[in-house]
Amino acid sequence: MSIAYLSSIVILLFYNPINSCRVEECAAWFQKTKDYENLVPKATERYCQVLQTYLKCMNDTQRFCHGNLRFHSSELVMRRHWKEFECEKWESCNEKNEDKRRPVNTCYFNPPPSSRKIKYCSLFGDPHLIMFNGTIQTCSEEGARPLVDNRYFLVQVTNKNVRGEALTTTVTKVTVLIRKHNCTSSLRYEATSDEEGLPRGFVDGTTFQMKSNSNSNSNAVEVLWQDNNYVEIALHFIHSSIHIRRQGPYLSVSVKAPSIVLETEGDVANEMCWAGCRRSSQISAETAVEQPKKFAECYNRRVHVPKKVAEDRCRNVGNSGTFFDACVFDLMFTGESLTKKDQVPYTKPKNFGKAFYFFLLSLHFSISGDDYLVHLSRNAQSDFRRLAPHHFQSQIIQQRVRQQQEHIRNLNISNSTKIFEKCVPSSSISIIFIPILAFVLIPMI
Ligand SMILES: *[C@@H]1O[C@H](CO)[C@@H](O)[C@H](O)[C@H]1NC(C)=O
Ligand SMILES: *[C@@H]1O[C@H](CO)[C@@H](O)[C@H](O)[C@H]1NC(C)=O
Ligand SMILES: *[C@@H]1O[C@H](CO)[C@@H](O)[C@H](O)[C@H]1NC(C)=O
Ligand SMILES: *[C@@H]1O[C@H](CO)[C@@H](O)[C@H](O)[C@H]1NC(C)=O
Ligand SMILES: *[C@@H]1O[C@H](CO)[C@@H](O)[C@H](O)[C@H]1NC(C)=O
Repeated sequence: MSIAYLSSIVILLFYNPINSCRVEECAAWFQKTKDYENLVPKATERYCQVLQTYLKCMNDTQRFCHGNLRFHSSELVMRRHWKEFECEKWESCNEKNEDKRRPVNTCYFNPPPSSRKIKYCSLFGDPHLIMFNGTIQTCSEEGARPLVDNRYFLVQVTNKNVRGEALTTTVTKVTVLIRKHNCTSSLRYEATSDEEGLPRGFVDGTTFQMKSNSNSNSNAVEVLWQDNNYVEIALHFIHSSIHIRRQGPYLSVSVKAPSIVLETEGDVANEMCWAGCRRSSQISAETAVEQPKKFAECYNRRVHVPKKVAEDRCRNVGNSGTFFDACVFDLMFTGESLTKKDQVPYTKPKNFGKAFYFFLLSLHFSISGDDYLVHLSRNAQSDFRRLAPHHFQSQIIQQRVRQQQEHIRNLNISNSTKIFEKCVPSSSISIIFIPILAFVLIPMI
């Protein structure tokens, strides 16, 4: 890795069409690199290299920094170091014979990216997909597909049909493959929903990879296991992380990584985070929630929970926005496998007051096992708020508003009998009416 290469990374990272003084970013990169590599200001080759990159970064932004005190003072200090440590001698050596001067297979951490370059993708629930570009999809794909695949790592998910109901799939397996690099050997992590908890380490039993070449004790890669239901796989050397959650029989996964890491491979057409679900497997969740009966009939699914009850449940645990939508959809259509006698009438029986009916239903569902789905979207929401960059979070919020407006327009013009396409041939009545709810509910209270 040459200085030119390092510099080009820095130029890429710091390039910004917005003309502003980027002194903070140069300084932040310098500081982080110093910390990661345990560098001290001394007359060493590595320190001079880092210094040079930093000065280059400063130089590139200097015309936007007139009168910026921070800029002028740090530049002064760094130029003094440069002189003091006689960094020029390394520079000339590097330029002439850079490959021989540096040990091969050295692990250098990527410079930390600015938050605008961070991308986030998440797959959870039925499943719902939040793509890198902010598009949200609900889909029903079966089989294994890469979620993210690049030069550094691969995240593969397996979606499986649950309970044999049409179009009801969830993530049942997550495989993370970390590719061999100067900073790590090849590593594999596997989580399946039928295991008792998430594994504490990679398949080979290790939980971390130390930076091989440095005297520092920073890990290049590590598994940060919190409990049976949450694990983070941190790839510190590329400032990326993979977050896996488990809720009962369901898994979910989120990926956070800088675009420079994600864009190392040419073809992204097969990666779900870039390309989304296959067209044929996409479901219009919004329409389904509004027209549950039509949706259920068309796809031969069941309405497990009435809309109002689902909304109450999802709101009560604090879900909002996209995660509220996902929660409502999942509760209504993916709910726990209820036995036949537990199935809930979709329409209110005549002999109950409305309020009492909903009260009983709420009670029923707070007792029955749908907590998994509610918590899945809740956790997805808290991960999103904790991990996704702010600009992306506001993009998602704006997009939801736009989509809802568009959705309302579409509903008005379309003939509502045709809102769902490619219906499956119905084999049974999807909504089962039970005349007297009390028999089901009273024993549970
Ligand atoms: C500093 O930037 C100017 C353009 O702003 C460029 O002409 C010059 O070569 C740069 N110097 C260094 C040392 O990179
Ligand atoms: C590993 O290190 C060598 C020498 O520093 C460098 O040439 C090579 O590009 C590095 N490989 C990766 C994947 O960064
Ligand atoms: C995101 O990418 C998908 C797939 O390429 C595309 O269909 C969608 O329109 C894009 N969304 C935005 C907001 O650019
Ligand atoms: C949609 O239809 C309703 C009546 O069914 C009408 O009041 C409303 O203005 C329509 N909205 C749009 C955006 O066309
Ligand atoms: C909608 O479809 C139904 C039957 O499929 C038809 O009777 C009705 O006229 C249609 N309405 C409009 C506005 O196209």
